[in-house]
Amino acid sequence: MEKRSQWGTRVGFLLAAMGSAIGLGNIWRFPATAYENGGGAFFLPYLFALLTAGIPLLIMEYTIGHKYRGSAPKSLGRMRKGFEWIGWWQVAISFIISTYYAVIIAWAILYAGYALNGAWGDDTTSFFVGDFLNVTEPGVVGGMNMKILIPLAIVWLITLTVLGIGVKKGIEVANKIFIPTLVVLFLIIVVRALTLDGAVDGLQAFFQPNWDAIGDPGVWVAAYGQIFFSLSIAFAIMITYSSYLPKKSDITNNAFITGFANSSFELLAGIGVFAALGFMALQTNQGVTDVVDGGIGLAFMVFPQIINEMPVLSGVFGFLFFASLVLAGLSSLISITETYVAGVAEKFNLSRVTAVAIGGGLSAIISLLYASNGGLFFLDTVDHFINSYGVALAGLFEVVAVAWFAKELKNLQAHANSLSDIMLGAWWRVCLAWITPVVLGYMLLQNLRVELM
Ligand code: PHE
Ligand code: NA
Repeated sequence: MEKRSQWGTRVGFLLAAMGSAIGLGNIWRFPATAYENGGGAFFLPYLFALLTAGIPLLIMEYTIGHKYRGSAPKSLGRMRKGFEWIGWWQVAISFIISTYYAVIIAWAILYAGYALNGAWGDDTTSFFVGDFLNVTEPGVVGGMNMKILIPLAIVWLITLTVLGIGVKKGIEVANKIFIPTLVVLFLIIVVRALTLDGAVDGLQAFFQPNWDAIGDPGVWVAAYGQIFFSLSIAFAIMITYSSYLPKKSDITNNAFITGFANSSFELLAGIGVFAALGFMALQTNQGVTDVVDGGIGLAFMVFPQIINEMPVLSGVFGFLFFASLVLAGLSSLISITETYVAGVAEKFNLSRVTAVAIGGGLSAIISLLYASNGGLFFLDTVDHFINSYGVALAGLFEVVAVAWFAKELKNLQAHANSLSDIMLGAWWRVCLAWITPVVLGYMLLQNLRVELM
């Protein structure tokens, strides 16, 4: 058995946790979600979700990892024999996500180059779907898309090398480079976006509060959904990362810092994206509403169009935008891949390098499926099921098991309180035993209802 790895510094752990949290969800999911769910009024349910579920769950996961000192399956299994499968469920979800997350990062690498040479031409949508992804007939998955292979290989090479090197010299060092760089690049992007004509219109549209939204349960579900996804909760990640913390670590404080850092980045992204959308609306004589988009469409169809419209240094702006996606994506990919590397290594008593070769190698091979022509449909379907059911179920299993079956909350509370100046009170247990399961249960039923309608 190798000696358990440990972070070198507290900042190293925090940057790694932020690296996991700050991802594509902040850049392309949050802005559109906020806009569609009340704009400025969305911040109320969002903040509420952060404080009643996001940070409390983060504290719980950090404490579990720290107390039981293992990957998610190991830690949960140590808490109670029958709980190991909950950890594996989370690991499985992380595994599946990693296979397509890698492909999206590979696309962003290619698009960083296209930003400089303008390869996407005037019609950025038909370029993305047709020339780039080679989607010929909707729903058809065809042969291999050769141009994605090299960037995809680079993505996996970086990720697996970092993981193979280890926690302190690999994951920690990578995040110490990636995250500060990401913040600087992103600040440049936001400042540039704010100085474009029409930026104010975009911000107005983004912050304009629709107070009626507060009365809509769907808006609250969206807020909780965004918080869970964005903080990488119930993906086995935060348990794994906190298991590498030294014995004396202020867990509660770390959770607050991670939560607020992630939300700050999210707000920053919302401002940058909407400033740019406001510019585009002005250039194309449309309303901001007509150009709003999220997800893959925002990054690979709308942003190239915005870049086409920019008066000066558009290539540099575009390059920085896609470079940010790559950095945000890589630090998240490293974290999800680490969950199964750690899980498999502990379960089968393998060295880290062997676990990286087997687990990482397998996900790299599976990711080729999405790199095929038309693989986008495949990606969309898997992503839909993972997001609608996989994650919510993982979170629900976890809180119900810990709070109700193991009745472990008081023990975890005592553990966290012995290490922090911030004292967790009964409010913390109420958030986890009641609020979180009710919201997650409601979310699942809601998604199921939409599916069946
Ligand atoms: N938290 C990441 C984001 O906001 C998404 C993510 C989920 C990353 C799960 C890793 C694992 O983009
Ligand atoms: Na996030």
